[in-house]
Amino acid sequence: MNDRFWSRIRSDFPVLKRKINGRPIVYLDSACMALKPRQVISAMNEYYERFPACGGRSIHRLGEEASDAYSRARGKLARFINAAEPGECIWTRNATESLNIVASSVKIERGSKVVTTSLEHHSGSLPFVERAKKTGLKLEVVRARNDGTFDIEDWKRAIDSSTRIVSVVHSSNVTGTIAPLREIIEIAHDRGALVVSDDAQYAPHHPLDVQNLDVDFSAISVHKMCGPTGMGVLYGKMSLLESMDMFLVGGDTVSDVRFEDGRIIPSYLPPPHKFEAGLQNYAGAIGAGAAAEYLQSIGMREIEQHERDLLRAALEGLKQLSHVHFLGPDDVNLRTGLLTFVIDTVESAHDIATFLNDRYAVMIRSGWHCAAPFHYQIGIPPSKGTARASIYIYNNSNDISIFLTGLQTLIEQTS
Ligand SMILES: Cc1ncc(COP(=O)(O)O)c(C=O)c1O
Repeated sequence: MNDRFWSRIRSDFPVLKRKINGRPIVYLDSACMALKPRQVISAMNEYYERFPACGGRSIHRLGEEASDAYSRARGKLARFINAAEPGECIWTRNATESLNIVASSVKIERGSKVVTTSLEHHSGSLPFVERAKKTGLKLEVVRARNDGTFDIEDWKRAIDSSTRIVSVVHSSNVTGTIAPLREIIEIAHDRGALVVSDDAQYAPHHPLDVQNLDVDFSAISVHKMCGPTGMGVLYGKMSLLESMDMFLVGGDTVSDVRFEDGRIIPSYLPPPHKFEAGLQNYAGAIGAGAAAEYLQSIGMREIEQHERDLLRAALEGLKQLSHVHFLGPDDVNLRTGLLTFVIDTVESAHDIATFLNDRYAVMIRSGWHCAAPFHYQIGIPPSKGTARASIYIYNNSNDISIFLTGLQTLIEQTS
């Protein structure tokens, strides 16, 4: 794919036409929230303008059109991750909700073990920490190396025959490192455990084939893959979804609710409906489907390559700057397109983000990125935090140059 192709992609994003303080926007915060292309915006507008009705219930014309678009969107998500059937994709509000459903609804015997890591986003660890507290489970934490990679021997030690579930971040939102998920899944399955993969950062940037990986559950954040806010997906193997307890119950989850001898007796629908209580975010699901289709039309391999090219340039540039330390390995093939760093001469990561924003309209994220345990592990105090620049399909080499120029100026002014 050449520069012309990527500049056409860039032109799909209306917000990039904006200027801030006379400067074009350099958006490097997609690991937090991706920008939205017009294809996604129009798909959602079409719902609101042409068939803003309830899906799955009303049998009138608008209801039928809404139901059709809603179920087509589920099919698009299933194709995006190669699920065996659309019903294995459950709409949620975000990856956090997807992970909470798994943590609270998978049946786990008292005394069993749950394994997670020191690198998790809070959304990947805390639902399991709380489940362990509530239902008497043991929780073991596999420690990532300080560069965000793992020693596979640690996984072999931690996952044993008492382990019921493993929660692992596929691609870290702090170091950008990609976990050896296939090996972890093999170890877990060998010992009778299930694996939930936190794909919030992985799915938007790399080809994800859940059947080929044989992963049991995957949590996806739609707003990080050019889709609307307030949307996520939980993928689960059908047999597991069928065996799980409900998360929320109520309207739309039941096939019948009998009233006999003064008792209310529900019969629940099969997945995905048993997990989708109440009226849904139809526009959101339709936007999610459009986002999946949009990314696939570009090609996930092409997206991965584009981001790695830019990441390589950013890493090389960063290495030339004095006082900068970045997290994660040098090899871009081990990572997703994000770059987290600190600068010795700047007290707080927020100061880096503020300077870049105010002077260069460069937008990055600062803080501890909802991954406090890993920041404690590497000895970065919460008050200092880390700065993170993250790359997506609409970024180009000019964005990386402006970002590096901004950092250079900041270092000169603070040294
Ligand atoms: C690795 C990782 N997991 C989970 C989440 C939570 O995603 P969501 O905001 O969709 O709940 C994030 C969000 O930043 C993330 O980066």
